[in-house]
Amino acid sequence: MPSIKDIMQTMEYGPAPESNSEVRAWLDERAAGLGHFINGRFTAPGDDLIEVVNPATEEVIGRVPKGVAADVDAAVRAARAALPKWAALSGFERARYLYAIARHIQKRERFFAVLETMDNGKTIRETRDIDIPLVARHFYHHAGWAELVDDEFPDHTPVGVCGQIIPWNFPLLMLAWKVAPALAAGNTVVLKPADLTPMTASAFAELLVEVGLPAGVVNIVHGDGETGAAIAGHADIDKVAFTGSTDVGRVIRRQIAGSGKKLSLELGGKSPFIVLEDADLDGAVEGVVDAIWFNQGEVCCAGSRILVQEGVARRFFEKLTQRMKTLRVGDPLDKTMDIGAVVSKKQLSRIEALLETGKAEGATLNVAPVELPKRGAFCAPGFFTGTASSHTVSQVEIFGPVATTQTFRTLGEAVALANDTRYGLAASVWSENVNRAIELAARVKAGVVWINGTNMFDAAAPFGGYRESGFGREGGRSGMLEYLALPADKKGKPRPAPTLVPQVQPFTGKADLPEIDITAKLYIGGKQARADGGQSYTVIGKSGQAIGQAGLANRKDVRNAVEAAGKATGWGNVTGHNRAQVLYFLAENLSQRRAEFAAALAASGASPKAEDEVELTIRRAFWYAAQADKFDGAVTATKSRHVTMTVNEPFGTMGIVAPDEAPLLSLLSLILPAIALGNRVVAVASQSHPLIAARLYQVLETSDIPGGVVNLLTGDRDVLARTLAEHDDVAALWYCGSEEGSAMVEKASVGNLKSTWSDYGRLRDWRDPKQGQGREFLRRACQVKTIWLPYGE
Ligand code: NAI
Ligand code: MG
Repeated sequence: MPSIKDIMQTMEYGPAPESNSEVRAWLDERAAGLGHFINGRFTAPGDDLIEVVNPATEEVIGRVPKGVAADVDAAVRAARAALPKWAALSGFERARYLYAIARHIQKRERFFAVLETMDNGKTIRETRDIDIPLVARHFYHHAGWAELVDDEFPDHTPVGVCGQIIPWNFPLLMLAWKVAPALAAGNTVVLKPADLTPMTASAFAELLVEVGLPAGVVNIVHGDGETGAAIAGHADIDKVAFTGSTDVGRVIRRQIAGSGKKLSLELGGKSPFIVLEDADLDGAVEGVVDAIWFNQGEVCCAGSRILVQEGVARRFFEKLTQRMKTLRVGDPLDKTMDIGAVVSKKQLSRIEALLETGKAEGATLNVAPVELPKRGAFCAPGFFTGTASSHTVSQVEIFGPVATTQTFRTLGEAVALANDTRYGLAASVWSENVNRAIELAARVKAGVVWINGTNMFDAAAPFGGYRESGFGREGGRSGMLEYLALPADKKGKPRPAPTLVPQVQPFTGKADLPEIDITAKLYIGGKQARADGGQSYTVIGKSGQAIGQAGLANRKDVRNAVEAAGKATGWGNVTGHNRAQVLYFLAENLSQRRAEFAAALAASGASPKAEDEVELTIRRAFWYAAQADKFDGAVTATKSRHVTMTVNEPFGTMGIVAPDEAPLLSLLSLILPAIALGNRVVAVASQSHPLIAARLYQVLETSDIPGGVVNLLTGDRDVLARTLAEHDDVAALWYCGSEEGSAMVEKASVGNLKSTWSDYGRLRDWRDPKQGQGREFLRRACQVKTIWLPYGE
């Protein structure tokens, strides 16, 4: 007779299916097709329908129309019409709707969990314990923001009509991440779910009818990429929010370049999962389960590159192999399953092709010894060994349940490996030594870092990427700001074209040059530098006379300046206090030379009130000096037993293109916030009034600003702006120029998906502190890193 021990060890799981009869009945009633949800009503589904498939069973569970331009147009019109009333409601009134949505979701948690599982293939354990509870949490949290928006965001207004495009990996959760902050801030919405997973969005629309949300506030248009493109490109959309692949993120960035639409992109990742030799290895192994085997690995922030310190690597991989044997793959509605189906057969083929590439390039694929169901899009979980950074599978998002692995010796090597990717979405760090863990968290380029944990989310914790993982944040205060506008964002008067077109001085052989007051050079790496081509251009002053020569920088000069900036890394590591001291010193030096600056500005003809402009510039320098050690991150209330920190990190190298108006004040209004937070800048001074740059670098030289922190170029604004936009080592770019120049900059920046801030050729009143100075400039000069630190045993 077998002993109890034997029985316990050999006992199989019995099936524990979650009932789906309620959802089946709901689906049956809608078998003819689900319509779009426009202006509070469902449209007739029509004939041209997309079949919605349950990837675990390959059954068709529903049909949705493919939205065409006319559908998108109707939805945008409804959203536009609903906007004034919705925006005018008090925060309290909007909050009541959001609370009602949250409560209704909670009442139907089981229904939504089952429907999501049937549509997406993810396990019921995850939809029940993670997706749907987070959806409810998101609406509750943002009901709170709706309540507080006037107090917490004074001067801000809603952006307007938001076009939102979401992916299929967390269908209802991504909807919540988009809709909740938009509504809280007073916007209206046109949302497109992924065509692979449209069902919970439709059920959500029905819930909105029950809640009594005013018609037109949320509109849902079904369809594929073309429908998405019609939304992003619609002329009456004010903001586009997208989550999905980096490729499509680029397409959208290009498509709407120059339109003035606000944009947030949450894109792909190849996130490192770093195990130090002092980690709790069993904890870290469980971490891998949640990092890459969670949601079939279809997670943008999945820990898909496992990096292990050499001394523990063998033991770690042994433990991982053991743990992998216990994973259960199968019917996602079965409550005992760890891994369900991937979203579609097509996605499965994509994953399998990448796994083949990995093997063909010489890596070994270790897979869990599981028997996959005969039907359905199932993929065995596993991990590669023998992968190097150069392997395709180490660089490309697999978006399936397979991680790559690499080993390292030192902390420095771990950082280098972790950052050896185009992406920067998330990272996970495992160590029992808090010093080492936090050091890694600080040095890894990622928008979210989990220490001794992974894939934790909360509505209060900003989420979003560095580098090619996109820009903008979702969640918390940062997320709200993506849906709010400031008065200065509203279109001002158009900026006149530059009065001066840089032209190389022709060689005449005659002594006909007027008396030159000043010959300005470029300022690169802390040194005055002649323009690479040896060229300069004549600058015309107030009287119409030539008043000097300015360097005519070319692409090579931009590259040199970016290189110099790239080397000045120390600036980001000194304390805010240190930076403040340097800025105070700069302000003092400016103020000692105020008469000289005023005279130069007056002679340039750029500034009717030259003395005032200098005075305001000095004050602005003091203001940003004061901010250098005060523009803080926060500790955010998220899950229990966690400290969740948001840190404002500098981008690194920023490009700045200054306008012609108020040439001293505007140039420093842009440079100061950037350097106050620890960025290095390559700044292009006013094209028409470039001589002020020469006076400025004389001040910089005597102000203890380390070489390379501020680089100043003069020349053709848009030629230099384009080179900055195209440069992969420039992480963010601010552009003040023309409308066409703004479009050019936004298009040219898709290479590394840099964060851009363009003014679309509209004037800003630099003298007005509400427009020319403020927290918005500081916010735009940094990116938020969210660090999760657990405590307790
Ligand atoms: P995708 O980026 O094409 O789809 C995401 C959403 O964008 C869907 O709603 C789709 O209809 C829409 N879309 C597609 N083309 C569009 C366009 N030109 N304009 C506007 N909207 C458009 O992703 P796909 O093709 O489903 O998956 C391919 C790969 O992308 C995956 O294997 C994965 O690597 C990555 N991906 C990453 C996600 C993330 O959360 N970071 C989510 C989904 C996919
Ligand atoms: Mg589906």
